[in-house]
Amino acid sequence: MEEKFKIDVALCPVLYDQCKMDNSIVVVIDVLRATSAICTAFESGVKEMIPVSTLDEARVYHKQGYLVGAERDGSPIEEFDFGNSPYSYKNPELKGKSVVLTTTNGTKAINMAKDADVVAIGAFTNISVLSEWLVNQDKNIVFLCAGWKGRFNLEDSIFAGAVIERIGINSKYDELTDSCLAVKSLFINAEKNPYNFLSSSSHRIRLHKLNLKKDVKYCLTYDQSTSIPILKGDKLVKLEEVYENMAS
Ligand code: MLT
Repeated sequence: MEEKFKIDVALCPVLYDQCKMDNSIVVVIDVLRATSAICTAFESGVKEMIPVSTLDEARVYHKQGYLVGAERDGSPIEEFDFGNSPYSYKNPELKGKSVVLTTTNGTKAINMAKDADVVAIGAFTNISVLSEWLVNQDKNIVFLCAGWKGRFNLEDSIFAGAVIERIGINSKYDELTDSCLAVKSLFINAEKNPYNFLSSSSHRIRLHKLNLKKDVKYCLTYDQSTSIPILKGDKLVKLEEVYENMAS
C-alpha cells in the first residue's frame, strides 16, 4: 500500500521538536503580523528578506546599509527603518530590495525551523496559493505556530486549521493528529468571522491598544498575496526564484 504523508502542527515553538519529521515542509505561521508582513513585502517585489532573531544582528545589517524592519511587543524599534506592520511593506519602492526583519516571535520561529527540508511562510494573505502548492508536494507537513513568547495563541492555530481543513482530507495524508483536529475545529468555529472570534485574544487586544486595528483586519484578510516565501539558506526568497535557480 502506498505510504501516506503526515501532517502535524506545533501549537507553539516548544512543541516543535516533537513534531519534526524527515522529508517535510515546515510552514511557519505568525499571522499577527510577521508572516503577513513578509508575504506583503514579497507582493511588493522585494528581492529577499533576511529574518534575524536579535536586535544586535539587525544592527549589524543596518550598519552595512540594509533596510531593516524591527518590532518588539508589537511596537517598532525606532532606530530602524520599519516596524512590523504589513502596511510598511505594501510599498512599490521595496521592489528588488533586500530587507532584514526581526520580530518578537515570528523571525525566531523561522530560524528555529531552518534545518527542515523546506521552510515556507504562511498567512491568511497567501492561504490559497500556499494550500494549492502544499497539497502538490510529496512531503510531510509541519505547521509551526510562532505563538507569543513561547505560548499558544489563537490566530496562528486558526490559520493552521484553515489550511488543514482545505488539504487534510486528501487521500495522500495519514489520519490527522489530535492537534490537527483541534486547530481544524478552532478554524471551523472562527471561519465565519475570525476578527470577532479573536475579540478577546491576547495579541489582538495588544495590537488594539497600540491603535493597530487596521493591521489586525489586514492580517485576517484572505489572499492579498500570491507569493510563497521560502527559506533559501538564511534568506527568504519567492518560491519561483528558488526553482529557477535550482533549474539553472
Ligand atoms: C510576532 O513576531 O509575534 C509578531 O509579528 C509581533 C507583531 O508584529 O505584533
